[in-house]
Amino acid sequence: MVSDDLRQRLARHGQDHLIDLLHRLNDADRAELLRELERIDLSELLTLFEKRDRKDALPERPHITALPNPALSPADISAFRTRGEEAFRRGEVAFLVVAGGQGTRLGFDLPKGMFPIGPVSKKSLFQIHVEKILAVRRRFGAPLPLLIMTSPATDAETRRYFAANQNFGLPEKDVWTFCQGTMPALDLATGKLLLETASRLCLSPNGHGGTIAALAESGLLDRLEQQGVRTISYFQVDNPLTMIGDFAFVGRHALEDAQVSSKALPKASPMERVGNFALVDGRCAMIEYSDLPDAWAQEKDAAGNLLFWAGSPAIHLLDVAFLREIADNADTLPWHLARKKVPHLGEADPKTPNALKFERFIFDILPHADRWTVMTTTRDEEFAPVKNKDSDGVDCPSTARQLMTNLAAKWLRDAGTRVPMDGDGNSIYQIEISPLLAMDADELRNRVKGIARIDRDTYLG
Ligand code: UD1
Repeated sequence: MVSDDLRQRLARHGQDHLIDLLHRLNDADRAELLRELERIDLSELLTLFEKRDRKDALPERPHITALPNPALSPADISAFRTRGEEAFRRGEVAFLVVAGGQGTRLGFDLPKGMFPIGPVSKKSLFQIHVEKILAVRRRFGAPLPLLIMTSPATDAETRRYFAANQNFGLPEKDVWTFCQGTMPALDLATGKLLLETASRLCLSPNGHGGTIAALAESGLLDRLEQQGVRTISYFQVDNPLTMIGDFAFVGRHALEDAQVSSKALPKASPMERVGNFALVDGRCAMIEYSDLPDAWAQEKDAAGNLLFWAGSPAIHLLDVAFLREIADNADTLPWHLARKKVPHLGEADPKTPNALKFERFIFDILPHADRWTVMTTTRDEEFAPVKNKDSDGVDCPSTARQLMTNLAAKWLRDAGTRVPMDGDGNSIYQIEISPLLAMDADELRNRVKGIARIDRDTYLG
C-alpha cells in the first residue's frame, strides 16, 4: 500500500491530494503512479513553485557589456580551417540534433524533423541534416556519429521514421538516438501535481538543457569518450540551413581549447525572437528574448550599434570533458518556468494558462565556461528557422524554403550560372542543391559545369 514515509512526504510537500487517490487505485495503477512519484524530487518542485513569481534574475545592468565582434584575418581563418579538417579526419567530432520539441506553433502533428522542407524535393528536415553529415563523412572517411535527442512525445515516431528510411544512408552503428527526461507540470494556483490519467502524472520534456543529463544517463557520454570524440556539434532540428561541418568554427574551438563555442548572428531587429549574447562580468552569457527588457533591446553603443546585436541561431560546439563536469554537478543549470495551458484530468480544455512547466536551457552552460569562442555568421548562410505556420509569415516553411533557395542561387551564381532574381533579391524559381552533390560553393563549382541559366524550379542532386 502507501508507506507512511511516502504519505508524510506527500503531505509535507502539498501533494496530499495524491494520498486518497493512491488508496483508491487498483494495484497495477497504484504501482505505476508510485513509480512515477519515486522519480521526482518533491522538495525541488515545492521550492520552484514558491519562487514562481520571481522573474528569472537578470544580472544588474552595470555587469553587462556587449559581446565583442572582432574581425578574423584570412590567415586566422585558414589556420582554423586546417585544424578543423584535422578534427573531422581524426573522428573527434560527433553531431547532435535536438529534436524533442513538439512543433506546436508549426501545427504539425509528427516530430518536427519529419516536416517536408526541401524547396523542390520536399525532403524532410531530418533527411537534409543527415545528407549534410553524409557529405562530411564522405570527405573525411571518419565515422562521425549522429546523436538524435528525442522526447517521450517524439521518440517512437522518430525511431520508426529513421528505421523505415534506412537512416537515410547512415550506418546503424553511427545513429545514436536517446530520449530526454521530463518534469512534472504543477497546477498554477496550488502547486499540486497534475494528472494525465488516474495513474499518470502530466509530464513534459525538461528542455534542451536536459541534453546533458540524458547523455550521461544513457551512457552515450561514456561512449563518446571511449570513441575519442572531443567535440559535439550541437544544432536544432528546425534550422535546415545549419552548416554541418564548419571547419573554421571547429578548428578555432580546438586551437583555442574552448569548452563551448557558439555562432552569433547580427539581429534583424532589436526585438527579434532569438537569444541575445552578452558578456556578464566578462563571461559569455545568453539572455533569452522573453527575458530581455525592451529598453535594453533598443540600447546602442557609442558608435550607434545595438548593444545586444548578437542573436543566437542555437548552434554550439560542446567540449565532451566540459559536459562531463556539468553532468557531474546536476544542479549547475537553473530551471526556467513557463505558464502554459496543460489539459489534465480535472480540466480537459483550459482556455488560459493553468499550469507551470519547467525547462533547462543548454545555453545556461555558457557562463560556466572559462574558455569560449563566438563566431559571427549571417542568416543568409546559416539561419532559416521553421517555427510557425505559413499564415504567420515569419520563421515559417515558406520563408525557410526561400532562404534555402537563395543560398543555392548564390552558389550557382558563383559557379557562373545565371539565376533570375526578383526585386527583393529572391530567386524567382525554387532551387535545391542536394548536400550529397555539394556541401558548399567551392564543391558546387567543381562539380557543376555548364549550367548556363536557371529557367524553372530546379533540383540538383
Ligand atoms: C530557440 C532558443 C533561442 C534561439 C532560437 C533559434 C530557447 C529557449 N531559445 O528559441 O535562443 O535564438 O531557438 O531558432 O531554446 N527542444 C528539445 N527539447 C525540449 C525543448 C526544445 O529538444 O524540451 C528542441 C526543439 O526540438 C527545437 C529546439 O530545441 O529543435 C528549440 O526549441 P524551441 O522551443 O523551438 O525554441 P525557440 O523558442 O524557438
